[in-house]
Parts: sequence; structure tokens; C-alpha cells
Amino acid sequence: MTDLFTPMDLHGLQLPNRIWMSAMTRTRAELDGTSNQLMADYYAQRADAGLIVTECTAVSRQGRGVVGGPEIWTDAHIAGWRGVTDAVHAADGRIYCQLWHAGRVSHPDMRGGELPVAPSPLPAEGKFKFPDREVDFPVPRELAADEIPPIIADFAQGTRNAREAGFDGVELHAANGYLHDQFLQDITNKRTDDWGGSVENRARLILETVDAMAAAWSMERVGVRLGPSISLYGMGDSDPLTTFGHVVRELDKRQVGCLTMLEPNAKDLEKGVAIENVAETFRPMTTVPFIVNTGFDKAKGMRTIEAGHADAVAYGVPFLANPDLVGRLKQDAELNKPDPATFYGRGPDGYTDYPALNR
Ligand SMILES: Cc1cc2nc3c(=O)[nH]c(=O)nc-3n(C[C@H](O)[C@H](O)[C@H](O)COP(=O)(O)O)c2cc1C
Repeated sequence: MTDLFTPMDLHGLQLPNRIWMSAMTRTRAELDGTSNQLMADYYAQRADAGLIVTECTAVSRQGRGVVGGPEIWTDAHIAGWRGVTDAVHAADGRIYCQLWHAGRVSHPDMRGGELPVAPSPLPAEGKFKFPDREVDFPVPRELAADEIPPIIADFAQGTRNAREAGFDGVELHAANGYLHDQFLQDITNKRTDDWGGSVENRARLILETVDAMAAAWSMERVGVRLGPSISLYGMGDSDPLTTFGHVVRELDKRQVGCLTMLEPNAKDLEKGVAIENVAETFRPMTTVPFIVNTGFDKAKGMRTIEAGHADAVAYGVPFLANPDLVGRLKQDAELNKPDPATFYGRGPDGYTDYPALNR
């Protein structure tokens, strides 16, 4: 029977298990967005993962949204990531780059005074976090229709850059309230042009971006991440089953390389989400490799794979705190306790110093 430890063939990429490392922003990049040796050490420590998906990585200056987050649009960025992918491959690992545009979830003070952009001029809920302070999100600038194709082109270039940097594939971050999610869900998209209104129009940015990324590499090497029940930054949709169902079916038609979908977390459930069982709801709509994430332990991961609700499980915080998560799960060993105070920060504390069992 297939379980978490069964190898998986991802379109020719051989994964030794189905325990993926979920994308996690850790803010240890250089302040110009260049990845560094510390990040190479961190990802290489976690090379046992079936597949590592990197933290979200900005495809352009306009797309930036995290101080200390990595980027992938200059030669220096590509060279920095090459150090990371070489280290992961030397440790027998596999790694995808999560490509991202923050949209409205950003702040002028970290982007040379420029306002963040969005489908509609509506500010994100919550606070923008600088290392030393938290501030309200600004009202973003509404993108003009002719500014959207260049953003899609940035994702195609980001894909070429990721390939040049030695990644095994790319994931479009279309979840968690960032630009692609802002276009998709009707709480953030009030446009009346070709990019808003109908489900088809709201999904256009995601689908055209996926097509452009596939043209830049191949459809098999492109993954997508969707979060139909995520309330972060005030996200929501009046009919998530129809909206996300449309995207999942369109991705299925294209046979995208893989699709990761997020279950709601405790906060989302508190707010009251329309779709509680994401994998069970959407898995039947597609035959592409289907990965599920959020709130999984070993037992729940095993049940999910064995029941056929997903092909792999992505683990976030458990991987952050356990470089040898795969071995620990296999042995039913105790897990390190994560330290939320160092999730975002600088330097090795709470980053590369979580102990492995045998170190
Ligand atoms: C510190 C931290 C940073 C995160 N950054 C990202 C990110 O860059 N991209 C993304 O898609 N999700 C991000 N997430 C969400 C995780 O990928 C994952 O969905 C979440 O932690 C739930 O999975 P878990 O219950 O296994 O931790 C982040 C989560 C954490 C804890």
C-alpha cells in the first residue's frame, strides 16, 4: 500500500518519499534579495524531504513584500540561488522555487516609496511586519490592464532564471492572499475589465501565468499552490467551490506538473470557512499529482495518502524545526519544539541550529 514513505515519480524526478517541505519565508536573504550560504546550509539540512519547495521568491522589484525575503530577477539573485540548489543536490535532495508577487501585501517603505499594486484599491487586513515595527497596510494602487501582461512575463523570466539557477522545478504561489489570489477571489477583485467579474476573468491571471511559465520551461515542471479556505490578510470568496473548482479543472486540462492545496488552519476555521475538507473536495476534480498541506502530523499524513486523498503531504512548521523530519517520522521519534520567535529573523538562531537526532 502507498504511504508517506513510498517513493514517487514526479514526471521523471524521482522522489524517495511523499513528505514534502512546504514553502516557508525565513527572512535570512541579503537585503537586496540575494540568497546566501546560510540559506544553502538550511535547505541542504532538509534534503531528505521528498521535495523541498523554497520560501516565496519575488520575480520583480514590484513583487517584493518581505524584508529579507529572496528574489530571482538579477544575475546576483540567480548566482545566490545556484549556491542553494548545488548544496541541496550535493546532499541528494530535490528543490523547487516558489515564484511570487506580493501584490497589496507589501509596504512603500521597503520598495523605495512605491505603493504596492493590486487588482483593486483595497488594503490588506492585518499589519505589515518590519523587523522592528508593525504598520497598517496602505491602500494599494490599482493595476492598469496594460500593466498585467508584463507581470506574467516576469513569471516566465523567473521560471527561466530558476532553471538557470539549477532548480528542479517551480511553483506558482497563488495562495495566502498574494497577487494571484487577490485577482482570483472576489473580495479583493472588483474590476470590470477582462481581469475581473466572472470566474473566468478572475482566474485569468493564474492560468495565463501558468501557461507562460510552462512555455518558459515545461508544464511538467510547473506546480501551483492554492488556498481556498485561507482567511489570511482578509481573503475570501462568495462562492469558493465554483471559483476554485474552475481553477482546478483548468489546471487539470493543462495537466499542470503538480497542485498543492491548503486545508484551513485553526484561525480560518474560527472565522468560519465554506470548505473544510479541501483535499476531499478538490482531489476528485483532477488527475495531476495532488499535494495537501496544513496541520498534518504523521498519522494524519498516513491516513490521507492511504485513503488516496493526496499523493504527497507538505509539512511546514514540522520541517522548520526538524531538519531530519523524514527520519524522525519513520522512527516515530520525538520532534523538536518550534520557536516562533525565530521563524522570521536574521542569522542561524532558530534556523540552522535545530538538532538532528544523529548529530
Ligand atoms: C514561518 C512561516 C513562513 C511561511 N511562508 C510561506 C511562504 O513563503 N509561502 C507559502 O506558500 N506558505 C508559507 N507559509 C505557510 C506554510 O507553507 C504552510 O502552509 C503552513 O505552515 C501550514 O503547514 P504546517 O501546519 O505543516 O506548518 C509559511 C508558514 C510559516 C510558519
